[in-house]
Amino acid sequence: MMINRTAVCLFTAATITFAAGAEAQTASPPAGLDEAAVQSTRAMANELLTQLGQKLKASLSAEGPEAAVSVCKEASPAIAKALSAKHGAQMTRVGTRVRNPAMGTPNPWQKEALAQFEARLSQAESPATMEYWSVVDAGNGKRELHYAKAITVQAMCVTCHGTASDIPATLAEKIRTEYPQDQATGYSVGKLRGAAVISRPLP
Ligand code: HEC
Repeated sequence: MMINRTAVCLFTAATITFAAGAEAQTASPPAGLDEAAVQSTRAMANELLTQLGQKLKASLSAEGPEAAVSVCKEASPAIAKALSAKHGAQMTRVGTRVRNPAMGTPNPWQKEALAQFEARLSQAESPATMEYWSVVDAGNGKRELHYAKAITVQAMCVTCHGTASDIPATLAEKIRTEYPQDQATGYSVGKLRGAAVISRPLP
């Protein structure tokens, strides 16, 4: 009996270690992940990107790019925070190079996602549906879903994230003033700009 129980314990410990070490990192939803969790996670990312996009477009057309920088500075973190609270998740955007270091700096998992996206873009995979998923063991028997959705550069983005010839001088000045550590320029259309990222507890 003693021996058997020890064997069972060892087996269990080994299984847990294996599960924690073998996080599935996948381009498509991990096998066994509930379809409702897949759909709601995608919907959360789309909600974040839609709200940010609408805010950006509205302020660009109403007030022009310089004012839009100020609007972005206020609105982007506020939108991410409000949606995170609404969904009980951590939601933000991260960049391959970063304008707002407090919000946009990728953690190691998010860096891995961005590296994956770069590789897949170079193999001509369409960015529109490009995703990266992982279910991780968060300890105490809890699991977390990590999700990233690729963000690529469109024509309207280069006004604020392009090369020196795309960004009017006064706008460049405004960006430097608001974001003295800005790294998020030099992008051209089609390049990977970053990702919408979500981290949420699983039942
Ligand atoms: C009016 C100027 C402007 C335009 C146009 C613009 N951005 Fe930005 N972008 C910003 C600012 C300002 C921030 C920093 C926001 C903050 O403080 O969180 C930012 C941040 C980001 C971030 C978060 C990572 C980081 O660097 O902090 C991503 C991703 C991003 N932009 C993608 C885009 C994409 C994609 C487009 C085109 C659809 C775009 N941006 C168009 C000004 C702009």
